[in-house]
Amino acid sequence: MVKVYHDKDIDDKVLKGKTVAVIGYGSQGRAQALNMKDSGVNVVVGLRPGGKSWKQAEADGVKVTTVLEAAQQGDIVLMLVPDMAQPTVWKEEVALAMRKGKTLQFAHGFNILYGAITPPKDVDVIMVAPKSPGAELRRQYEAGFGVPALVSVHQDASGKALQTALALAKALGSGKAGVLETSFKDETEEDLFGEQAVLCGGADQLIRRGFKVLVEAGYPPELAYFEVCNELKLIVDLIYKAGIGGMYRAVSDTAKWGGLTVGPVIVDDRVEENMRKVLKDVQSGKFARDWMAEYRDGSKHFKALMDEVDALEIERVGRQIRKMSGLEK
Ligand SMILES: NC(=O)c1ccc[n+]([C@@H]2O[C@H](COP(=O)([O-])OP(=O)(O)OC[C@H]3O[C@@H](n4cnc5c(N)ncnc54)[C@H](OP(=O)(O)O)[C@@H]3O)[C@@H](O)[C@H]2O)c1
Ligand SMILES: [Mg+2]
Repeated sequence: MVKVYHDKDIDDKVLKGKTVAVIGYGSQGRAQALNMKDSGVNVVVGLRPGGKSWKQAEADGVKVTTVLEAAQQGDIVLMLVPDMAQPTVWKEEVALAMRKGKTLQFAHGFNILYGAITPPKDVDVIMVAPKSPGAELRRQYEAGFGVPALVSVHQDASGKALQTALALAKALGSGKAGVLETSFKDETEEDLFGEQAVLCGGADQLIRRGFKVLVEAGYPPELAYFEVCNELKLIVDLIYKAGIGGMYRAVSDTAKWGGLTVGPVIVDDRVEENMRKVLKDVQSGKFARDWMAEYRDGSKHFKALMDEVDALEIERVGRQIRKMSGLEK
């Protein structure tokens, strides 16, 4: 069983008088900086001058300065620029400010696990990984709750690294939902597998292909969109709240029978085999090496794949429907 901590188990005295430098102010950076600030932590945000998020941070009323200056001010330096940008930001700025006794913090173990960042031995290296996108992390905090988080210690120079990680998780609001202790390796490999096989990649392909089959068979695209995309949220919400059984108990008997008998025909043993292959590539570091090479080569393939998404019919139809229903401006 993994160890789970809640607010009452966490002593946040370790953060007294400390400054947290949040490097990056995107999905996680904004949510984490604002949650910590509202929890009474002294936060300074480090960004590149002239970047888009500098104005956003100022508008939100958080202290902003350059990456180097923030890293110099921070007792804890939290790396929240994109994973692929982190090695350069580390080498050119953050590393110059990492003195003995400081803490380097991540929200994902990628660059440590795959060796793209090697911190000096005399700093603590920890991870606090909230298990949700940034917007949800902020929303839950504002609602007086939190999203679960994983914490891990890669390097414990001070002897207090775990305490610091737990206190930071508490400041994010995650102590209300539960903070699970893990390793950099487990967090990274599970996170990559999950987003590839089930969450982003798997769900995207299921939706895209379901839509394609219906439209090719002559059904109206608008109906197909509602059927295989819009309604997916409602089904996932049911699973989130009450499990797979709870979801089945909330739908009609016909949907239960159809889902239970046809589901395994759609996502079959071959899909499971593919998932095993994907997991092996994550574990061997092949996925990470390929992705880092793609980034180094200018992300051409990556950009082409995103353009392909933007050109899909389901995207055109979806945008219209979301505008019509007020979900999108
Ligand atoms: N997204 C999630 O839901 C999620 C969930 C859990 C963990 N994580 C982890 O959290 C970390 C951050 O991910 P994210 O998705 O929040 O990132 P993101 O939104 O893509 O980060 C964007 C921020 O990084 C800055 N930035 C980008 N490139 C930079 C560079 N070369 N130099 C300086 N600043 C740069 C941007 O500044 P400008 O405005 O100047 O471009 C912006 O403030 C990653 O380790 C990720 O794995 C993310
Ligand atoms: Mg991830």
